[in-house]
Amino acid sequence: MDQQVALVTGANRGIGLEVARGLVDRGFRILVVARSASKAEGAVRALRGTGHGPEPLALASDLGQLASVRELARRVSDSVGRLDALVLNAATAPARRTTTVDGYEAQFQVNHLAGYLLLRLLDPLLRKTAETHGGARIVIVASEAHRRTHIDVDDPNFERRRYGKVRAYGASKLANVLTTYALHRRLKDTGVTVNAVHPGTVSTGLLGGMFGPLYPMRFLFRAPKSGAAPLIRLAAADEVGGIGGRYFNRFDDVPSSEASYDRDLQERLWDLSEALVGLSGGP
Ligand SMILES: NC(=O)c1ccc[n+]([C@@H]2O[C@H](COP(=O)([O-])OP(=O)(O)OC[C@H]3O[C@@H](n4cnc5c(N)ncnc54)[C@H](OP(=O)(O)O)[C@@H]3O)[C@@H](O)[C@H]2O)c1
Repeated sequence: MDQQVALVTGANRGIGLEVARGLVDRGFRILVVARSASKAEGAVRALRGTGHGPEPLALASDLGQLASVRELARRVSDSVGRLDALVLNAATAPARRTTTVDGYEAQFQVNHLAGYLLLRLLDPLLRKTAETHGGARIVIVASEAHRRTHIDVDDPNFERRRYGKVRAYGASKLANVLTTYALHRRLKDTGVTVNAVHPGTVSTGLLGGMFGPLYPMRFLFRAPKSGAAPLIRLAAADEVGGIGGRYFNRFDDVPSSEASYDRDLQERLWDLSEALVGLSGGP
């Protein structure tokens, strides 16, 4: 039997690196996605000595460039014949409103649109894997921060509203949960499952960037390995095989925010995202 394959974005540090390590340990071949080739190769070096399978494959993709996401999907499809787990983990939280080369607000693009495009482009490979090997899984790393905000599909890039990094971050994480539910409907009977997960409050660069490197509470937060554990479970554990369309706060299957269940909002965001990534006419 050929080896199971998992792709992890933001796999060069923080929670993503530990997810990659945990999945290597479980026998997966890992596609390590990082912003640059040197970061991806650094992660592969860090993973050396973990597990007994083939070395992870380093793939560069700047999620702030949709062309780079398309190139990533092409390379994945050319490099592997199956994709058992897609872990959309990368995220950014810049202090000031910044725009990407595609002209979108950075958190909206990196945390939501890039993952949306990637999962749409890899959809055929995931479905084929599910058909041939009995299942495939998508794990979307969201956050409890999705509860404290709303998303304005008429102004997703904060052009007409005042930008706040925490607000924009929360909105991007709400987009993750809304997308999980909209995608779950579309994956019915395919064998591909999708779930959203909050990893806990974890001491990583992301929180440092949000609250400053010396933020005093950091010693109270989880280590990245602990933050990775619920993601690894959703990507690989038998006990959650076949479960989809759920929101997990770490290991607990809990209701997400009221706004996230708004089906009209889910569909409006889906259509908007499809148009913004240039997929309205098909992949
Ligand atoms: N930490 C927490 O307490 C917490 C809580 C709830 C949810 N989460 C979620 O957990 C996930 C992982 O976060 P983390 O805490 O591990 O953060 P982190 O240590 O800051 O890692 C973020 C990862 O995303 C990558 N990334 C950012 N912008 C990118 C871009 N333009 N192109 C490609 N990769 C990019 C980073 O790459 P670079 O190294 O190149 O920047 C890094 O690998 C995120 O989805 C976050 O929202 C975290």
